[in-house]
Amino acid sequence: MAKKYDIAGTWEPQFVNDLVQVLISVLESRDSYTQGHIKRVAEISLAIGSRLKLSQIELRDLYAAAILYDIAKGVGTDKQTLNKQLPLDQREATIIREHPYKAGLLVVGVDSLSHLMPSILYHHEQWDGNGYPARLREESIPLYARIISVADAFDAMTSARSFRPGMSREEAVAELIQQKERQFDPDIVDILIDCLEENRHEWKDFSFYF
Ligand SMILES: [Fe+2]
Repeated sequence: MAKKYDIAGTWEPQFVNDLVQVLISVLESRDSYTQGHIKRVAEISLAIGSRLKLSQIELRDLYAAAILYDIAKGVGTDKQTLNKQLPLDQREATIIREHPYKAGLLVVGVDSLSHLMPSILYHHEQWDGNGYPARLREESIPLYARIISVADAFDAMTSARSFRPGMSREEAVAELIQQKERQFDPDIVDILIDCLEENRHEWKDFSFYF
């Protein structure tokens, strides 16, 4: 039976962006991060990606991965574990370590997003091979995952949580430098520091890009 409607042509970029922002707000309402964490991670990732001279399509994919990487952390993890102060016990740590798999499985079944799966699955890998889920090392970790990892850590450190105040930019940069070649790709850390020196203002809402 023929459809009596055809709404596909009415999905303007602004409408799609607004819809995405509402869904992000729902995700963030589950977590104790300051509102706007996902948007800031997306914007910081784009700033790093543009310094790497990624193409517009690559930046779009980086942006999409930076929105989706923690999608299962908010919806697939109980709120108590999600917002608990470290250290986590073994059961809680295992639950947290499941979230990249769950997010990867969500996108792998969507044709136009499935190529983002490795960037999402490996966003908790570490440069020195001590991350999860696969203990990948150095450049075997997908580039977008390495970028998102640094952006996520920087924004998490500078955001106040229910159990601690946020660090200053300078303190967070010092921590990133200390974790170069341990947790983070050293080149990506250097690029973020360059971006921060250039942009002394707060990161703007990503709706700026539409
Ligand atoms: Fe995560």
